[in-house]
Amino acid sequence: MPQDPLRTKLSDLLGIEYPVIAFTHCKDVAVEVINAGGFAVLGEAMHTPDDIAADIAWIRSRVAGKPFGIDLVLPASAPPSGSIDQLQSNIPDSHREFARQIKEKYDVPDPKGPVDLHTWGGLNQELARAQLDVLLDERVPVIASGLGSPAFVLDAAHSRDMLVFGLVGKARQARRQIEAGVDAIIAQGYDAAGHTGSIGTFSIVAEVSAIAGDTPIIAAGGVTTGRHLAAALCLGASGVWTGTLWLASRESDVDMIVKERLLAATSDDTTHSTSISGMTMRVLKCPWTEEWATPEAPDVLQAPYQMLLSADYIQGANDHRRGDLMTEAAGQGVGFVTSMKSARQILLDLVEEAIDTFEGLVGELA
Ligand SMILES: Cc1cc2nc3c(=O)[nH]c(=O)nc-3n(C[C@H](O)[C@H](O)[C@H](O)COP(=O)(O)O)c2cc1C
Repeated sequence: MPQDPLRTKLSDLLGIEYPVIAFTHCKDVAVEVINAGGFAVLGEAMHTPDDIAADIAWIRSRVAGKPFGIDLVLPASAPPSGSIDQLQSNIPDSHREFARQIKEKYDVPDPKGPVDLHTWGGLNQELARAQLDVLLDERVPVIASGLGSPAFVLDAAHSRDMLVFGLVGKARQARRQIEAGVDAIIAQGYDAAGHTGSIGTFSIVAEVSAIAGDTPIIAAGGVTTGRHLAAALCLGASGVWTGTLWLASRESDVDMIVKERLLAATSDDTTHSTSISGMTMRVLKCPWTEEWATPEAPDVLQAPYQMLLSADYIQGANDHRRGDLMTEAAGQGVGFVTSMKSARQILLDLVEEAIDTFEGLVGELA
């Protein structure tokens, strides 16, 4: 082929070899992907400002000046401030009772310690702002926002030579963020792990690419093979943003019980459920998601209240390693995650398969 199909607007913008972004909560995975020629964004929405600063230093000491990103959640719908106790007091008794019934039915154990969620940036604006200030102070090369538009931080970030990426599930959100001047848009489809909208990856990537102009578009949702990467580039994206792909990698800190479930799972083992956070979220099916899908279940609460309600179940299941109860965000591409490889190998296999795909197509055309 005359040109390298993996050299794109995104790889040029970030100065990386391969236009593949790993979203991960695991620092080891992030460092492996960065050092293998990809890019990584570390999800830090659950961390305190001090922990975020420490994680940034940890990554910097291992990537020899290569760029990386940090992802927060900045939902405009979050309450301005408020302690956990204040937020908890807004949960109706009917919902507490339903959660109690699930706990009893499945013998869900109590969490062993304080619930992690209580530092989630989506709980209130004050916490999210304190997290964001660390990224600005540290001049993290890329800030990404998984929930909520990051447009308000553009001036502060650009004046520090930082890039800002927004994640969208609808073309109209993309249009607004592009007009505001974000540096790249992640167009995320329904297939994706975690919080996601209702438009399929094939449609949203093509729609957003069509209106993007010079802004690089990054495809997300269901990308777990090199053929997906090649397809994303054909749809007009300049790269891919991937989450599920890394969960069962050797370096990943996901519990081995969950890794085994992921390796065995197919697209049908995930569900698009509001029961965990109050917003549509794709996760592995578990008793909590299944019970909230029954006719007896009350209407789910808005974020962040549903998240507070589900937190005890999730952490109780995790703390006691109850495989029958545990869940994890996972996308519909999970069926292609079938063996435990190093993050470096995952990246290199993805790239090789994408190049083979392009070469195959060119061969067919010739
Ligand atoms: C375990 C897990 C946790 C996630 N948590 C977040 C998060 O905190 N913030 C965010 O912006 N995206 C989060 N995501 C979504 C990813 O950023 C990404 O958009 C998604 O994984 C892409 O779809 P894929 O999993 O099919 O590759 C998470 C994904 C996974 C797998």
